[in-house]
Amino acid sequence: MRIIEVSDYKQMSVKAAQHVIGKIMKSDCLTLGLATGGTPTGLYGELIEDHHVNGTSYKCVNSINLDEYIGLSKEDPNSYFQYMCSNLFSHIDIALENTHIPSGMATDLQKECDRYEKLIEETGGIDLQILGIGENGHIGFNEPGTSFQSGTHLVELTESTREANARYFSSIDEVPRQAITMGISTIMKSREILLLVSGKSKQDAMKKLLENEVTESFPASILRNHPNVTIIADKDALTMVQHLHR
Ligand code: F6R
Repeated sequence: MRIIEVSDYKQMSVKAAQHVIGKIMKSDCLTLGLATGGTPTGLYGELIEDHHVNGTSYKCVNSINLDEYIGLSKEDPNSYFQYMCSNLFSHIDIALENTHIPSGMATDLQKECDRYEKLIEETGGIDLQILGIGENGHIGFNEPGTSFQSGTHLVELTESTREANARYFSSIDEVPRQAITMGISTIMKSREILLLVSGKSKQDAMKKLLENEVTESFPASILRNHPNVTIIADKDALTMVQHLHR
C-alpha cells in the first residue's frame, strides 16, 4: 500500500482528483468505481472544476457505484443515485447510461445483486475504485464480519453506520436498515484502489488498517492484500499511526 500524507481535506481531494484525471487522460475507456458519503464530495468538486476549466471529458468513462440503500427510489433525495447526480454526474459530460448504481427498489433483491455482479464482470471490471472507510472499518457497506469471499449482496446496516449516515436524513428513523453493496471480493477484483481518509474520526480506523492484522472483523484490512492500493490520508486521520515514514 502506498500512503500519501496530505495536510487536510482540501489537499486530499486535490491529490485524488489529479490521480483520477491522470488515469482518464491515459485510458481510452476507463471504468471508475465510485463511492458516496462525505469523503469523496471534495474529489468530485475538483473533478467538476477541472472539467469546466480544462475540458477533461467523461464521454468514454463508465462508472460503477459501490452501494445503494434499499427502499429509496432514484428520485429520493437521499438515494445514492441522487447523490451522484448532484455531486458529479449532472456537472460533467458522462453519459447517464454509462453510470451504474444498484437498484434499491428491485422486487427481487437477490436477483439485483446477481445482475450487478455480472454487470461489473461484463464491463470488463473496475480499473480504479474510489473508497472511503467507515469508523468501524467498513468499505462499501461491508460491515465487520462480512466474508472476504462475498460478492455483491444484501446487508443489514449496523446501528453505528445508520447513526453516522443520519446526518443526511431528517431523523435516524428515516435511515434505511438495508442496502445492496459490492462485496469484499468484488472490491478486491478492482485493478487499482484509491482509499481516501480524512479527519480525526477516522484516526482509530487508520491505525487498525495500517498496524493490525488482516481480519474479517475489520473489513478494510483486506486491502493490505491488494497489489495496487494508494491511500491518500490527511494529518488528522494519521494522528495515531506510529511508523509512517514521514
Ligand atoms: C459510500 C460507502 C461507505 C463510505 C463510508 C465512509 O458509498 O460505501 O463505505 O465510504 O461510510 O463515509 P464518509 O465518507 O461519509 O465518512
